[in-house]
Amino acid sequence: MAGATESIHGMWSSRIMFILAATGSAVGLGNIWKFPYITGENGGGAFVLVYLGCVVLIGIPIMMAEVLLGREGRQSPINTMLALAERSGRSRHWQLLGWVGALAGFLILSYYGVIAGWAMAYVFKTGSGALVGADAGVAEGLFSAFTGNVWEVLFWQVVFMCLTIFIVARGVGQGLEMAVKYLMPALFVLLLVLVGYATTTGHFGEGLAFLFDFNFGKLTWEAVLVAMGHAFFTLSLGMATMMAYGSYMPRESSILGTVAIIAVLDTVVALLAGMAIFPVVFANGLEGSAGPGLMFITLPLAFGKMGAAGQFFGTVFFVLVSFAAITSAISLVEPAAAWAVEKFKITRVRAAVTIGAIAWLLGLGTVFSSNIWVDVFFLGERNFFDSVDFLTAQFMLPLGGMLISLFAGWFLDRQIPRDQMSETHPLLFNAWVFAARFIAPVAVFIVFVMALF
Ligand code: PFF
Repeated sequence: MAGATESIHGMWSSRIMFILAATGSAVGLGNIWKFPYITGENGGGAFVLVYLGCVVLIGIPIMMAEVLLGREGRQSPINTMLALAERSGRSRHWQLLGWVGALAGFLILSYYGVIAGWAMAYVFKTGSGALVGADAGVAEGLFSAFTGNVWEVLFWQVVFMCLTIFIVARGVGQGLEMAVKYLMPALFVLLLVLVGYATTTGHFGEGLAFLFDFNFGKLTWEAVLVAMGHAFFTLSLGMATMMAYGSYMPRESSILGTVAIIAVLDTVVALLAGMAIFPVVFANGLEGSAGPGLMFITLPLAFGKMGAAGQFFGTVFFVLVSFAAITSAISLVEPAAAWAVEKFKITRVRAAVTIGAIAWLLGLGTVFSSNIWVDVFFLGERNFFDSVDFLTAQFMLPLGGMLISLFAGWFLDRQIPRDQMSETHPLLFNAWVFAARFIAPVAVFIVFVMALF
C-alpha cells in the first residue's frame, strides 16, 4: 500500500505553510536564549563551528528523514513508525522511537514553559521602563530578584502554558499561520535592530571574534556533545516533531529544498542573536558564561541604553520572543496530542489539556530551580532544570535522531524514500542516503562515546 495522501488531523494548506510552521517550531528560545548562553559557557568560536557542522552533516539529513517518514505515514509518529516498520517487514518495536519522542516532548515542554514565562514577564518589565538607563548591576539585580520569586515565575509559567494549550486545542490552522507569517519576520527585523545597536557599543569586533574565532584548544568533548545536542534542539529534531509536522505536508513539495530553507532560517536567527548579545556582554563587563540569565540581563541593558525608543523596542522584542516560544511549544505537544487523538478517539481539546497539564506539573521542578530548589541537585551537579535539559538535549534527542536516521537509511522499504524524494537529483538523493546510513549515526555515536569517556 502506498502512503495516504492526507492525515486525519488536517493538512497544511501549502508548502509555504509547512515551511512557516516548521520554522516556527525550529526558531524559538533555543535560538535567542539558549544558543548565546551555551556558546558563552563553552568558549565561543570552536563551539559555534561544531554546532554549524552538526546542523549541516547531522541535522539536515535527519530532518529529511523525519519529514519523509511522517509524510509517508500520515499519522502520529508512534503509529507512523509502527505502520512503516510493519510495511517494511521490520519489528514493531520501532514504534518505541515515537514513544521516546513523545516523552522528550513532555520533558522539554516542562521547562520551555518556564523560560517562555520569563520572556513574557520581561514584556512588562521592559514596558514599565524599570530598565531605562539601567547599568549591569541593576539588570542583574532585577533578573535574580525575579527568578528568585517563586510565585512570580509560577504565575508566568501558568499564563504561557494556558496560551499554548489554547492554541493546540484550536488546531494549527489560522492562528498559527498568522503568527508565523507576520511575527517571525518582525522578530527578524528587531534582531537586526539589536545587531545594529551592538555595532555602536565599541565592542562589536570583540563579540564577532568571540563567536567566530575558531580556537579548538579550548574545546572539550563535553562541549562537542552540548553543540551536537543543541543542533538537534534548535532544529526540533530527534523527538519526531518534524515527523508529526511532515505528516501534514502536501505531497508535491520537495523535501530537500524545504528542509534546507528551514535550517538556514533557524541558523541565521541564532547567529544574529549571538551578534546582538556578545558585544553588549563585553561592553558592560559582563560574564559571557552567565548561564540561562544571559539574554535577560544583556538585552534589557541594550534596550535601556536606547532610552524611550529602547523601552518600546524592548517591549516589542519580548512579545516576539514569547510568540516564537509559543510556535515552538505547540510543536512539542503535537506528537503526543496526535497520538492521543488516534488512540483514545478523544478531541484535540482534551488531548491538549491533558498533555499541557502534565507538562505544567513537571515544569514546577524548573520553576523551583531558581529559588527554593537552587541547591537541590539531581543528575550530578545539575539542578532540576539542568538535569532535564541535559537528559533531553544531550541524550534523548541525539539518540532518537540517530535511530530515526538508521531506520530511514537501513530498515525502511527502499522504495519509500525514492518515491518521497522523486524530484531530488540522484546525486543529492544518494548523498542523503549516505548521510542517513553512515554520517549522521556514526557522528552521534562517536560524540556519545567520546563525551562519556
Ligand atoms: N526548536 C525549538 C527552539 O529552538 O526553541 C525547541 C524545540 C521545539 C525542540 C520542538 C524540540 C522540538 F521538538
